[in-house]
Amino acid sequence: MKITFYGHSTFLVDTGSHKIIFDPFITPNPAAAGIDASKIKVDFVLLSHAHFDHVIDVELLMEHNPEATIIANAEIAGYYQTKGVKNTHGMNSGGKFNFPFGEVRMTQAVHSSTFPDGTSGGHPNGFIITTPEKKFYYSGDTALFADMKLLGELYAPEVAFLCIGDNYTMGPTEGAIAAQYLGLTKAIGMHFDTMPSIAIDHTQAKALFDGKGVALHLPTLGETFDI
Ligand code: NI
Ligand code: MN
Repeated sequence: MKITFYGHSTFLVDTGSHKIIFDPFITPNPAAAGIDASKIKVDFVLLSHAHFDHVIDVELLMEHNPEATIIANAEIAGYYQTKGVKNTHGMNSGGKFNFPFGEVRMTQAVHSSTFPDGTSGGHPNGFIITTPEKKFYYSGDTALFADMKLLGELYAPEVAFLCIGDNYTMGPTEGAIAAQYLGLTKAIGMHFDTMPSIAIDHTQAKALFDGKGVALHLPTLGETFDI
């Protein structure tokens, strides 16, 4: 399955049949200056929570992809409905739904979730996605939590996108434990190096994951890779 990294926690997943983007934050990111977000073609926009560094380009993307569907918790889906977005699908923690590209299971995340304008974004979330080709976990912004063990037991993701920048979320130490709890052998780091407060030591982070038997990939902006 082809993945393109647009910086921070923004990934475009091409399932072969559909294009899914997670947490679009491109235009204010200086490192992503070469990316024109208005040119990205998407079928589904998955949002983990309402913080600006996860939703800032939602309206731009929806303007250029008016038939796309936003998948998020009920509060965030409702917020974009009021903004005139045609297709939204609200969910909440613990529930699943089958979409044309596969199954989405919404998980909890330990974080906060308020829109830049002060509107409540409900509780923050993560996702476990099951497509015919791959089962993967997208953590959203979160602390380490023990129920990640349960997610590993129940859903056994093959690979995960884990926030590891510390300060606002897990750091590499907790991320490596999360990978172990989830039963992973490979993980992709996100939410790191975008700003000084979440800069990480790449060699040290990889060594921490390696110590748990997990290969950590730290993508570079614009990179396309396979999972
Ligand atoms: Ni956040
Ligand atoms: Mn964030």
